[in-house]
Amino acid sequence: MRDTVTVPEVRGRKRAQGAQPIVMITAYDTPSAKIVDESLADIILVGDSLGMVVLGYDNTLAVTMEDMIHHVSAVKRSDPKALLVADMPWMSYHVSVRESVLNAASLIRAGANAVKLEGGQNRLDVIHAINDAEIPVMGHLGLTPQSVNAFGGFKVQAREEATRKRLLEDALAICEAGVFAVVLEGIPSEAAKEVTEAIGVPTIGIGAGPNCDGQVLVFHDLLGYSLGRKPKFVRSYETFAESGIAALALFREDVIEGRYPKEAESYK
Ligand code: KIV
Repeated sequence: MRDTVTVPEVRGRKRAQGAQPIVMITAYDTPSAKIVDESLADIILVGDSLGMVVLGYDNTLAVTMEDMIHHVSAVKRSDPKALLVADMPWMSYHVSVRESVLNAASLIRAGANAVKLEGGQNRLDVIHAINDAEIPVMGHLGLTPQSVNAFGGFKVQAREEATRKRLLEDALAICEAGVFAVVLEGIPSEAAKEVTEAIGVPTIGIGAGPNCDGQVLVFHDLLGYSLGRKPKFVRSYETFAESGIAALALFREDVIEGRYPKEAESYK
């Protein structure tokens, strides 16, 4: 039985100081959260990738607070030892500081230990206020999916000198505002290295190369639990979709051929 993972423990996990890299994996329901927790991941992220991975949307913008509360509650019911971080969905922290704090609190009441939100210097008031309510905040910079329309698509960020400088300034600013870790998504490895060396809290990369203090991937991508093209940075360790289709086809044949159910699978 392992110990519960806490925010202060994660905050101190800098590889440069000899710490083990952080492993964060998404989950959206009770069984997937149980599997992630059994794998000894440090953090379970109920990401708003929920919208794309589970609910079938093209991006994360359709995900609501109600969706997040529903899925955070389901993940919490798995009773994980991993730290449970919940994404604040688009428009839940963009209208007013007061609304942002109340929305963060709703995610904590649903079972999260901390919230994650996207953005840099434009989000400092919100980060301060949520921290003031004793709610730990994880930052998210680079290819922030909620900015898909502003970016004109899911495009690698911080490739030019000016945007790289801006990324570094954003990272330093949100750290000053009190985030306990920063997700770096869809940026060149060198830019991630620069940020990781400059800030005092851990970076957790996705499509950000090997120099971060940890890595995060989506549950369905890791297990090959979806069909279609995957981004370059995804490594699938299983082929759930293919083996699942094959297994379900066997069930179908058994039903058609009268091989299922057998006596032993029936009640007397
Ligand atoms: O929504 C999500 O799953 C995320 C991670 C991929 C970082 O934000």
